[in-house]
Amino acid sequence: MTNIYSKIISTGSYLPDQILTNYDLEKIVDTSHDWIFERTGINERHIAEKDESSVDMAYHASLKCIEKSSISISDIDMIVVATSTPERVFPSSAVLLQNKLNIKNSFAFDVNAACTGFVFAIDIADKYIKNKSASNVLVVGAEKMSSLIDWKDRNTCVLFGDGAGAVILSASESPGIISSTIGSNGSYKDLLTVNPDSDFIEMKGNDVFKIAVNTMGKLAKDTLNSNNLSIDQIDWLIPHQANSRIINAIAKKLSLSDDKIIMTVGNHGNTSAASIPLAVDYAHDNGTLKQDDMILLEAFGAGFTWGSTLLKF
Ligand code: ACO
Repeated sequence: MTNIYSKIISTGSYLPDQILTNYDLEKIVDTSHDWIFERTGINERHIAEKDESSVDMAYHASLKCIEKSSISISDIDMIVVATSTPERVFPSSAVLLQNKLNIKNSFAFDVNAACTGFVFAIDIADKYIKNKSASNVLVVGAEKMSSLIDWKDRNTCVLFGDGAGAVILSASESPGIISSTIGSNGSYKDLLTVNPDSDFIEMKGNDVFKIAVNTMGKLAKDTLNSNNLSIDQIDWLIPHQANSRIINAIAKKLSLSDDKIIMTVGNHGNTSAASIPLAVDYAHDNGTLKQDDMILLEAFGAGFTWGSTLLKF
């Protein structure tokens, strides 16, 4: 019997038009471009319009992804949207997206694992494809992080951005996703959270930084070991884009050179569940990712949650 894999057959992304630079932020809070750039690697981020929701952004990213693919809308039989900034509590963002795209033959649901949401969504989609419950899955990460920001809090308002990214995962006989791991530990719930009274993000930045580096470093090593791969066999690391210092510290732990890392945080900021699919589409569109490249995706987020995906592109 032939193995069934799930393979990324198309990518798409969307960023809102409005760009907020570090210099713009200097006019809003007591900060400076140099402070933000030195500590995070972020130059600028995109901010959605007031009436533009995460579902609107998911729609634009998905449409581009479907247009670039070899399949039509009627072939999509499952939709998973990773978001922690849904347009409505219900119906889910995935169902709203299904309606906007006019997809009939599909079921749709959301996943919330904060910044790890896209990796969780890929993990689920991969399992549905492997057990033959779905053939073409639209997997989207979409976030309007600006809706959770206290624009008076310089500790958090400089870090985040809005956007959406999408991939289509399809059943394939040739290798695509090779392994997938997800995990969580709720005992860290208060280190990075949306305060239920204010609805704003609150974070113990230093603690998050250290745990993110240690967890993602170990996760990458464990993923390589369990697949009998050395770091030299990885063509690209595409990590969650929270902060270039976190990413560089992970690369150092792995002895991975900078030219094997896709880094988009400078222009996107931290777009939570959208950051990995935005980075994948950016690198695919500009020709960086080639067919058969070995790629490691990994993410870390509130919860804490974490996850990795090893795949052949
Ligand atoms: N501009 C200027 N000064 C600032 C700003 C700002 N935007 N924000 C904080 N400061 C000040 C603080 O008030 C503090 O001042 P004090 O010493 O007078 O009290 C000083 O800078 C140092 O603050 P720290 O929090 O110790 O700064 P640190 O060097 O740790 O950098 C940062 C903060 C960038 C948030 C860092 O901790 C970090 O990157 N943490 C990871 C958090 C993250 O990326 N979270 C995203 C979600 S999790 C994920 O996606 C992986």
